[in-house]
Amino acid sequence: MLIGVPAETTAGETRVALTPETAKKLVAQGHTVRVQAGAGVAASVTDAAYQAAGAEITDIDGAFAADIVLKVRTPDEAEAARMKPGTVVVGMLNPFDAAGLQRLATAGLTSFALEAAPRTTRAQSMDVLSSQANIAGYKAVMMAADKYQRFFPMLMTAAGTVKAARVVILGVGVAGLQAIATAKRLGAVIEASDVRPSVKEQIESLGGKFIEVSYDTDEEKEAAVGVGGYAKPMPASWLARQQVEVAKRVALADIVISTALIPGRAAPTLITEDMVKSMKPGSVIVDIAAGKGADGIGGNCPLSEADKTVVKHGVTIVGETNLAALVAADASALYARNVLDFLKLIVTKESGLKIDLEDDIVAACRMTQDGQITRK
Ligand code: NAI
Repeated sequence: MLIGVPAETTAGETRVALTPETAKKLVAQGHTVRVQAGAGVAASVTDAAYQAAGAEITDIDGAFAADIVLKVRTPDEAEAARMKPGTVVVGMLNPFDAAGLQRLATAGLTSFALEAAPRTTRAQSMDVLSSQANIAGYKAVMMAADKYQRFFPMLMTAAGTVKAARVVILGVGVAGLQAIATAKRLGAVIEASDVRPSVKEQIESLGGKFIEVSYDTDEEKEAAVGVGGYAKPMPASWLARQQVEVAKRVALADIVISTALIPGRAAPTLITEDMVKSMKPGSVIVDIAAGKGADGIGGNCPLSEADKTVVKHGVTIVGETNLAALVAADASALYARNVLDFLKLIVTKESGLKIDLEDDIVAACRMTQDGQITRK
């Protein structure tokens, strides 16, 4: 089959959906792979490296004139118009973006959003949310360390002792766990909160401390189980108790990294303005949920501003919304492997494209086909 890889056009997007490693595998499977010139440059992949892997370098028209187009971000209006109806598009197409899905349907594209893959063992190797959130958690700590004017580790020097940084992590999914692991390696003292008590052991195994909040009613206990590995909105009574416990830790913290999300909903408010005011001057918040709050600007902290770093009440608040793109080479390498593994489900050597809706991963990821939105 003819597989095209255009350069990404979304502002700040540095990743690419194919690497020389995955290109080589697709070529070995008998496919023709065409990459738009310069598509990998921001991820440190040269055109020559793609060519050495057996791919052809083409222009933008060549990249979109394919049977299957591999993308990182959802095609915009102009990109969607470049593809002939029936083209298969695989990418992070944002299953919650109704207007975006309508655009893909109207263009007659058969599209697969990898974020919609179920959280099952079989889907793990194509789980883009995990591969990219892991990177975001790491980079959040790197950014915090960069903005913070003190050390992370405890140091005993001839000029005196330096205290270890206190780090609070809010939301302990994939990003939060990696943030704990990374901050721990740097020598920080870590406390973490999540609505799901099942993460307590994971936090402790990484050397962090779980911020305990009791589950007092059946409703609270039932919500805390979550659904499909994801959090459910918690009752207000529990959130109020959580806020009291989190506020105590935030007031003592040097760094807060917040990652709390609930799929398809606004990110919960966990760091109020009063909490920011209670923090020491020079403290740093990295809000991975920035831009996902109810107003589309803030995140877990309403003072965050999407894609900006601001200083409020003496606290530096980092609102970078695409942290994975700041680690473009490895983010692309992992993403491209996710894409390659997904392609194995819809492309067979014998009969080419085969969309088997009996396959739960294929069915969950399919967003549009034959002019219709088919999202489950
Ligand atoms: P996510 O990005 O949707 O959310 C991040 C975290 O925020 C979650 O841990 C969630 O519980 C937490 N959160 C939501 N509201 C909160 C609040 N008010 N206060 C504090 N925390 C709050 O989640 P992510 O990282 O995509 O994955 C969540 C879980 O899914 C993982 O921990 C894991 O258990 C499971 N998973 C399973 C996989 C598999 O079995 N194949 C693969 C990846 C994840």
